[in-house]
Amino acid sequence: MGSYHITVLKGDGIGPDVVTEAMGVLECVGKKYGHDFVFNEKLAGGCAYDAYGEPLPEETLEACKNSDAILLGAVGGPKWDHLPANLRPEAGALLKLRSSLGLYANLRPAIIHKALSDASPIKPEIIGDSLDILVVRELTGGIYFGERGYREGKHGEEAYDVEAYSEFEIKRIAVQAFEAAMKRNKHVTSIDKANVLESSKLWRRTVTEVAKDYPEVELDHMYVDNAAMQLVRNPKHFDVIVTSNIFGDIISDEASQITGSIGMLPSASLADGAFGMYEPIHGSAPDIAGKDMANPIATILSAAMLLKFSFGLVAESQAIEDAVTKVLDAGYRTPDIYSEGTKKIGTKEMGKRICDAINA
Ligand code: NAD
Ligand code: IPM
Ligand code: MN
Repeated sequence: MGSYHITVLKGDGIGPDVVTEAMGVLECVGKKYGHDFVFNEKLAGGCAYDAYGEPLPEETLEACKNSDAILLGAVGGPKWDHLPANLRPEAGALLKLRSSLGLYANLRPAIIHKALSDASPIKPEIIGDSLDILVVRELTGGIYFGERGYREGKHGEEAYDVEAYSEFEIKRIAVQAFEAAMKRNKHVTSIDKANVLESSKLWRRTVTEVAKDYPEVELDHMYVDNAAMQLVRNPKHFDVIVTSNIFGDIISDEASQITGSIGMLPSASLADGAFGMYEPIHGSAPDIAGKDMANPIATILSAAMLLKFSFGLVAESQAIEDAVTKVLDAGYRTPDIYSEGTKKIGTKEMGKRICDAINA
């Protein structure tokens, strides 16, 4: 029996749709296993800008700092795209949360559920029985946080964003990747653009150094353009991928589609220690917001990661994953993963069926 404090940031668009279902699932788990999950809902993103004139009010940041973990939906949308960067939900809330809380390690597991092989655009003979890739994305450095601005160039105004990485930043994310690989298939692929970028040369050199502490782990390096191609040509090559902030953003969306839908991929953003923020890798999907169409599984699986990584509740986390598998095996699908012969259901019913499977 334990009492755990979770700050919940539903955010914008489909954020509230999917987080509501993940909270419902956590409540089911709490009841079944005798835990008290205390939710503290706060505003972040466009909804916070509308209410307070700022995307990340101090009160929200304080609540996050004072909780055991954070569950986030998604932020942003066309309504706020015109705002200056610091007031936009993406930079003003999400990136600020990640950097203020030191969440440098972003784990994005891309796993194909057997039942969903039809939903993957990749041929069954390429995927085989299963696919299980872990993208380890650096989250608080690189071009997202480098110097940026506008200046007068040779042909008038120009804009710039600097990609910079320190050895310290590369080393700590590489360690996370190798530690994860030790618990998996002992294979790390480091993705960079070392044929062009200085920051990638330092990346490659540092990852190679870190590898010396993990002699059991096989390390290979791949240029990002080739990696993007290999992910669809031969996804089975990959076990753990470690890469920079921007490459990890792109590669993980690509990996998600291999699993059937971006609505399936959870993530954990971790600092050193147990604290973390958990969110689906997808965005606020304004096109389907509030229509009971969004797939809540990515967020529900993010809640499972929360239980495991921040609370050490391994059996409870596994119970959620097993329930998701059961519901998919029973043929229930939100529209994004629907194929002929399966049963199309909405966001709420998917959440409810996963709860029922936990209680069964
Ligand atoms: P998106 O991920 O929101 O949507 C891309 C496509 O995937 C859309 O067709 C959408 O309907 C679909 N999709 C996404 N999640 C889904 C789900 N759970 N179930 C079913 N379909 C789903 O990406 P976008 O359209 O590029 O961005 C929309 C907004 O979200 C932008 O403002 C962007 O900045 C923001 N965004 C936020 C986050 C975040 O908060 N972590 C992540 C990515 C994008
Ligand atoms: C993600 C998103 C964010 C990112 C945006 C919204 C800032 O795409 O979490 O993958 O690029 O990190
Ligand atoms: Mn992204």
